[in-house]
Amino acid sequence: MFRLENMVRPNILSLQRYSSARDEYHGTEGIFLDANENPFGMLNRYPDPHQQSVKAAIGRIKKIEVENIFIGNGSDEVIDLALRIFCTPGKDKIIVCPPTYGMYEVMSHIHDTAMITVPLTRGFQLDMSGILRATSQKENIKMIFLCSPNNPTGNSMDELEELISHFDGIVFLDEAYIDFSSKPSFIHMLHKFPNLIISQTLSKAWGIAGARIGMAFAGKEIISLFDKTKPPYNISQNNQATALDILSQQETFENNKATILSEKKKLINRLAALPFVRNIYPSETNFLLVEMEDAGLVYRGLLEHQIITRNRSREVAGCLRITVGTPEENNILMQTLELLPL
Ligand SMILES: Cc1ncc(COP(=O)(O)O)c(C=O)c1O
Repeated sequence: MFRLENMVRPNILSLQRYSSARDEYHGTEGIFLDANENPFGMLNRYPDPHQQSVKAAIGRIKKIEVENIFIGNGSDEVIDLALRIFCTPGKDKIIVCPPTYGMYEVMSHIHDTAMITVPLTRGFQLDMSGILRATSQKENIKMIFLCSPNNPTGNSMDELEELISHFDGIVFLDEAYIDFSSKPSFIHMLHKFPNLIISQTLSKAWGIAGARIGMAFAGKEIISLFDKTKPPYNISQNNQATALDILSQQETFENNKATILSEKKKLINRLAALPFVRNIYPSETNFLLVEMEDAGLVYRGLLEHQIITRNRSREVAGCLRITVGTPEENNILMQTLELLPL
């Protein structure tokens, strides 16, 4: 039986949240002498610590109640807070399934939380029996980090629902690329799984990586743990305003996404025609994982033309990860690749 209280670090469970000046008075009009701000200037006031307008906009788009939404300074802050809330340093453990997003490992080191790796299968799917074996053999496994669609492999995981229902710790499901995917988000499953945290971001399909807006969706008890653990003013006023602005431009969002997806198709066709390309992995994202005869050579050749890709050969043998750019950028990439002296 999953019981949230048994998952949370005792010091977080008993934590009294910081009560900010703006928690005590909710009006927008008045003479504000409560927060030791400077009365002069443009950005002189602290931002809304609860990001109410942004949450309302996200709630409308994602069809989820505001009480089930947390906003982080990028989804990287969401990952950081999740470890902080659930894993006692030096004691608890997490499961990570590489090749996957590198921050789970970095954060596990930061939080002194041992990481058990259960690699994906050859088809980049979850090794269900490996995961369940690890959970039965080791104690204090608090969380598993899953990424679907996955970075850098680009595919979606097939057996998520089965895993979430069999894993009796917290499942952190990173859906950073979900808006590009043909598969639906797991948000509609939240009511079924009290152990599920879904993270998403405005950095990818919504195009505001510079504003650092990440989201967590979960049951309201988990969301209130995030709320009391975060720094009070974690999202700046400018970034809240940018998020609100971009979220009001649904049509631009759809158009840009459609362009990226059709450019991805064109890139796949042109890359497949290159003699040194061995394989292009199926992608549910805005990037392609491409296996080359000599990935290092191609990577360096592109770099000489100031075209920067990601060499992921250490994670997946022989592979570069290439993000889909604008039509012009993709043309230059392909012309350069076609002329590389390989
Ligand atoms: C799978 C995955 N999760 C999270 C992030 C970080 O997103 P954010 O910009 O919201 O911190 C990335 C960024 O590349 C990512 O690939």
